[in-house]
Amino acid sequence: MSDPTNAPVNPHLAAYAARGLKGRILSGVQPTGNLHLGNYLGAIRNFARLQGDYECFYCVVDLHAITQPQDPAQLAAQTREIAAAYLAAGIDASRHAIFNQSAVPAHAQLAWVFNCVARLGWMNRMTQFKEKAGKDRENASLGLYAYPALMAADILIYKATHVPVGEDQKQHLELTRDIAIKFNNDFAQPDFFPVTEPLILGAATRVMSLRDGTKKMSKSDPSDFSRITLTDEADAIAQKIRRAKTDPHPMPADAAEAEKRPEADNLLGIYAALADIDRDAAIAEFAGRQFSDFKARLTDLAVEKLGPMGAEMKRLMADPAHVDRVLRAGADKANAVAEPILAEVYRAVGFLRP
Ligand code: TRP
Repeated sequence: MSDPTNAPVNPHLAAYAARGLKGRILSGVQPTGNLHLGNYLGAIRNFARLQGDYECFYCVVDLHAITQPQDPAQLAAQTREIAAAYLAAGIDASRHAIFNQSAVPAHAQLAWVFNCVARLGWMNRMTQFKEKAGKDRENASLGLYAYPALMAADILIYKATHVPVGEDQKQHLELTRDIAIKFNNDFAQPDFFPVTEPLILGAATRVMSLRDGTKKMSKSDPSDFSRITLTDEADAIAQKIRRAKTDPHPMPADAAEAEKRPEADNLLGIYAALADIDRDAAIAEFAGRQFSDFKARLTDLAVEKLGPMGAEMKRLMADPAHVDRVLRAGADKANAVAEPILAEVYRAVGFLRP
């Protein structure tokens, strides 16, 4: 006997709907290496595409970066590089917040509370910690272990309703939902924190290494030829695509065949994402053709799509004072939202504000 007009409405979403929006987004990128194609297609490009429908908080997660050793000067430079990439990708800093995490103290403050909400049993299931800590787990930082609770704080300090995430961050978002539910239950009301939804966008967003189609494209891969960075010049892009690993067969005839050939599949996925077509259309376009033809076409497309963005990033990085002003304004905007929510949390927990 459910009457759809009386169905329970998520009060968080209802408030945004009244403003013509679908919700509020928080997402972040770690300043731990030069940005590459995987970061762009998997995250930053989507951030730009969501800005019409959501109120967005896009953060450079410098607190997360130091869970593993970082060179201080490089950390600062890479923080600016990500801010430059956000801007170059077309995120409008006058309507949304672009900022670095450490400039909004409430992230760390809420993270402490969440360290006391999350259970050891939950944290022990986190697969990214196991991967990053590797064999020498005794020597991993306590921060690396607590990383997902800080990520939950990033999201919930804005009561964000949606988070665009890649496959590899889904488990952390699940944990965020568990923390929200437990906090609401232990300290507040059922709707205090929203139970944040993941936004998984685009089929071809998992970009793999150009040297090994079974490994993710990564900042930490020792080979420069494994990744295309966002500031690569046209000749570097061409060289990397030319040298990208393939197999001796012509291009796959169909999706089933592509799936069995990781390098071909990855390059087709990249092509599809850059061309904004679906993977099947890309497969059909090149089925049975030579890799060399395909690679030439992919090179042109990559240079066409990435060239202007890389040039704009370089222009911005040559003007650090401008980037810092954007980050300062973004932090002010973020603080204005985060501080009252932290105050509500502190009150709910029983912290005096004498
Ligand atoms: N853990 C994310 C990554 O490595 C980065 C991140 C930190 C994040 N806080 C976040 C992503 C909050 C989304 C929402 O990619």
